Amino acid sequence: MGAESITVEANAKLNLFLRVLGAREDGYHDIDSVIVPLSLADPLTLRRADSLRLRMVGNDVEFLRVGGGPDNLAVVAALALAEECGPEGGAEIELEKRIPVAAGLGGGSADAAAVLRGLNELWGCGLDARSLEGIAARVGSDVPALLGGSPVRVGGRGEITEPVAIPPIWWTLVPAGFRIRTPQAYRWWDEDGEKSGPDPEPVLAAAAAGDLESLGEALFNDLEDPLVRRHPEIGDTKRRLLDAGALGAVLCGSGPTVAALARDEAHATGLASGFRPAIVCSNRR
Ligand code: C5P
Repeated sequence: MGAESITVEANAKLNLFLRVLGAREDGYHDIDSVIVPLSLADPLTLRRADSLRLRMVGNDVEFLRVGGGPDNLAVVAALALAEECGPEGGAEIELEKRIPVAAGLGGGSADAAAVLRGLNELWGCGLDARSLEGIAARVGSDVPALLGGSPVRVGGRGEITEPVAIPPIWWTLVPAGFRIRTPQAYRWWDEDGEKSGPDPEPVLAAAAAGDLESLGEALFNDLEDPLVRRHPEIGDTKRRLLDAGALGAVLCGSGPTVAALARDEAHATGLASGFRPAIVCSNRR
């Protein structure tokens, strides 16, 4: 018999670049991206139980009306794993929401990835990384990338992952006062007839070399322009961050959070002081 409960962390993410290659017949888009997990995280406690229950806590939960029902990705992930191996699928999941919701930071996907990792252990499933990735891909496009807790380059709709080495970097995240659903951001890219962004090699080379100045200039996200056309305030936030001395600034995932690249922790804290709310964090190796 294993432990009665375990705690895991669900790390938010940002995309160093996000290149949309084109729409697919199945409603998804092929992408090329580097996803880096962040120190910003939702803590989860998983306990053995007779049935599956999710309890969400955190300041934003009531305010944002975050759903704890069957469409919550943490629940979807638990059910998907239970189908493969769960001993009657029972667990109580306590999830503290710290990652802003529908903000482009992968919070829901990170929660799902953490539930898969944690319940695999709690339930003694013993599934290997490859099997977990297969289940993760069924739960959501970003979930496989967030399973390992380290930076990956992704392809396909996000489910093809390959490790990349990215040094720790400090970021200031500026969330917006509204939410964007991922399908909406991709629909706007379609509607605007956008082209795919540039060759991402300069981003990869600058990141690998720890050349923050060049990295700041090279960051890009193809979903950014369509979103800024509809929400010009996001463009203003980006400009203000650059004017305040950020080395670069880019939309996070499908938005609307903007991430600013900082030289170090003190610089990130200084940038954050001009914005409410703002989150200072670093990426994990
Ligand atoms: O995979 P996930 O459930 O997170 O995707 C949500 C929606 O986002 C998809 O139904 C699709 O509309 C859009 N999406 C996309 N291309 C991707 C990932 C997501 O069009 N690579």
